[in-house]
Amino acid sequence: MAVIEVQHPLVKHKIGLMREADISTKKFRELTGEVARLLAYEATADFPLEKTTIEGWCGPVEIDQIAGRKVTVVPILRAGLGMMDGVLDMIPNAKISVVGLARDHETLKPVNYFDKFVGHLGERTALIIDPMLATAGSMIATIDLLKARGCKDIRALVLVAAPEGVAALNKAHPEVRCWTAAIDSHLNEQGYIIPGLGDAGDKIFGTK
Ligand code: URA
Repeated sequence: MAVIEVQHPLVKHKIGLMREADISTKKFRELTGEVARLLAYEATADFPLEKTTIEGWCGPVEIDQIAGRKVTVVPILRAGLGMMDGVLDMIPNAKISVVGLARDHETLKPVNYFDKFVGHLGERTALIIDPMLATAGSMIATIDLLKARGCKDIRALVLVAAPEGVAALNKAHPEVRCWTAAIDSHLNEQGYIIPGLGDAGDKIFGTK
């Protein structure tokens, strides 16, 4: 299963709070950051460790450290920015690659209007962040861009996924794992996840 629904009680509790209709921008933003941190924790659980010796308070001490893993966090504009600080709290040395995609009104396909990737993508783990996996069109396009630049370890973090998006992602990129706080019921005719969170970008930025 490429999409992993995290079952941790903190994740379930926090994503539940985010569904409240009257939630403030401040609270929604805070919870976005908190859930992003917890998803980053889950998505990095297999990072390899190596031993090293440092000078401790009572002499040399052997400690574990993450073994030379280079990470790039990849927010999809604009809503993905809302998850960025939370992920960077957990992985402060990560570099940022940004992808901007807009939907073409005629083809309904995502069009790449901006991207700026960090170097050495072939040696990096990419953590794509976007709050809502709806049709998965933007996620699939972002993975295509990363693969075209040689990235081999691609993972995704989303707050809520629709079954339609899960199926599409699985079909297009079955080896890419995606961690989510919830897999919801379905997409409605307007492309919103039901019950979902509403427009996550508007809620994070306070627009609308
Ligand atoms: N984007 C959102 O912000 N919300 C949805 O439900 C679907 C896509």
